[in-house]
Amino acid sequence: MSRLKIVAGNWKMNKDFEEGLSLASEIISMVETEAPSGVQTILFPPFVHLHALASLAKGKQAIHVGGQDCSMHPSGAYTGEIAASMLRSAGASHVLVGHSERRQYHGERSSDGAAKIQQALSAGLTPIYCVGETKEERLGGAFEEVIAAQLQEGLGNLNEVQMGQVVIAYEPVWAIGTGLTASPEQAQEVHAMIRGWLRNHFSAHVANHTSILYGGSVNAGNAAALFAMEDIDGGLVGGASLKSRDFTDIVKANR
Ligand code: PGA
Repeated sequence: MSRLKIVAGNWKMNKDFEEGLSLASEIISMVETEAPSGVQTILFPPFVHLHALASLAKGKQAIHVGGQDCSMHPSGAYTGEIAASMLRSAGASHVLVGHSERRQYHGERSSDGAAKIQQALSAGLTPIYCVGETKEERLGGAFEEVIAAQLQEGLGNLNEVQMGQVVIAYEPVWAIGTGLTASPEQAQEVHAMIRGWLRNHFSAHVANHTSILYGGSVNAGNAAALFAMEDIDGGLVGGASLKSRDFTDIVKANR
């Protein structure tokens, strides 16, 4: 099944402007010379770096930049917020929606995610919608229900054409930044469940064509085994995306 392979680097709140520019330059030149063709690389820097990074990536087919979040409103009196259309005008092509750190520290709900996805799609951005269970939810055993509810609330109102423009990231909260990674089998199990959900709610076509990324302590050592699983189409990488060598090796692992 030919699905787009993606490796995305979520820089979170790291790197000042100069550091961000040099990290991006390093990554871009390494990925351009070393990465297999057909893998899309997306950098998610802090907002203030976006425009400069988009200029660096300009004309490079396989390299994109995106915002780590966007507002659920199109414009107006929302101090501190960034509209999806502004990201687009600054050169972004993608946006993360519903990352667990937004859910955890900013009280974001999946219904907010649904509104953000609408904004992203109207602005012409590709949303990467993040879902995943906490440690308690996994230990409690009902984590697939938790994920299904996140999918339903975040994506349930989309039509099939809109869903065709969305990427999903499965990021178990217990694996983010902890050094604990879901095993390839654990991740595959959830990815297959997500693909089943897409088949039931949309169609076999949508299920077969939606890229589903795994995130949570992906590194240069574990990436290949994760990406080898049938339903894992790439990764959303936090910590290891801050080192050009490690991140490039992860991109190279997605063949
Ligand atoms: P991590 O972060 O790779 O540092 O675990 C992943 C993420 O939060 O997207």
